[in-house]
Amino acid sequence: MEIGDDTMEFVTLNNGVEMPMVGFGTDAANDALSYGEVMDAAVQAGYRLFDTAAMYGNQNELGDFLAGSGLKRDDYFLTSKVAQKEQGYENTLQAFKNTTAALQTDHLDLYLVHWPKFDPFFETWRALEHLYKEGYVRAIGVSNFEAHHLDRLLTKATVMPAVDQIETHPYFNQHVLHGYLEELGIQHQAWSPLGRGAVLQDPVLAGIAERYGVSIAQVILRWQIQHNVAVIPKSGNPARMAQNLALDFQLTTTDMARIDALQRGERIMGAPDQNYTEDLW
Ligand code: A2P
Repeated sequence: MEIGDDTMEFVTLNNGVEMPMVGFGTDAANDALSYGEVMDAAVQAGYRLFDTAAMYGNQNELGDFLAGSGLKRDDYFLTSKVAQKEQGYENTLQAFKNTTAALQTDHLDLYLVHWPKFDPFFETWRALEHLYKEGYVRAIGVSNFEAHHLDRLLTKATVMPAVDQIETHPYFNQHVLHGYLEELGIQHQAWSPLGRGAVLQDPVLAGIAERYGVSIAQVILRWQIQHNVAVIPKSGNPARMAQNLALDFQLTTTDMARIDALQRGERIMGAPDQNYTEDLW
């Protein structure tokens, strides 16, 4: 499967760039398989969007894998993110050089500000706009930005973010922020779309999955896609990787509403402003 293959669903971002609706979170782990084996299984399964970040510490390994994979650069969509400690204008330009060197590429398809960090993010964004206007990145965006972060960024931005990548799953469905992103024309992309744990045991989801003859994970991913939320599930297990791409079924409006009603406001990670003040990265 290649980008352009009509078996893969794409979304057109606000600048015309096409992005696969389903991508692969490249920090997936499997104790029995090497990193290269996990990534190879992801490529064999059909993934053509690879999502990484400076913070994940895997860019060198991913770059080595991609260089030896036989994939042509235009065949896949590559996302990375500026870490907290890389923020600022000059720092971000240097971070981009480090990231692209590690990934063994001259450009990224999408470069995101990983977490909002108030003062430097204007300067970080100015660097991203520069990289975008010079053609080093095909699209720029943010991650973990809530409405108030976006409002603040937009007081100075000259390029509208193309994507906001945020924690989203049935127990934290982000419906309010989703509406705001739609208003702004920013594509919502979900990290940890499967919610890492409890949600994968949810009895309501289990009932729906049984009726459609699919897994709970497939129900969750399909629900996000039908809400126009792009997803980047992680799995170190080749069978589950393939399952997470097999989403060619349709949930009814009633089942969509049942899943919407599972909202509990329950995050996996701390709220973005907590991460900002802790300054972890
Ligand atoms: P595994 O790697 O053993 O498949 P998220 O992407 O939301 O952070 O979730 C990742 C977690 O979900 C991993 O622990 C992964 O475990 C698990 N997972 C991924 N795909 C599936 C699936 N289809 N069914 C069950 N669990 C899954």
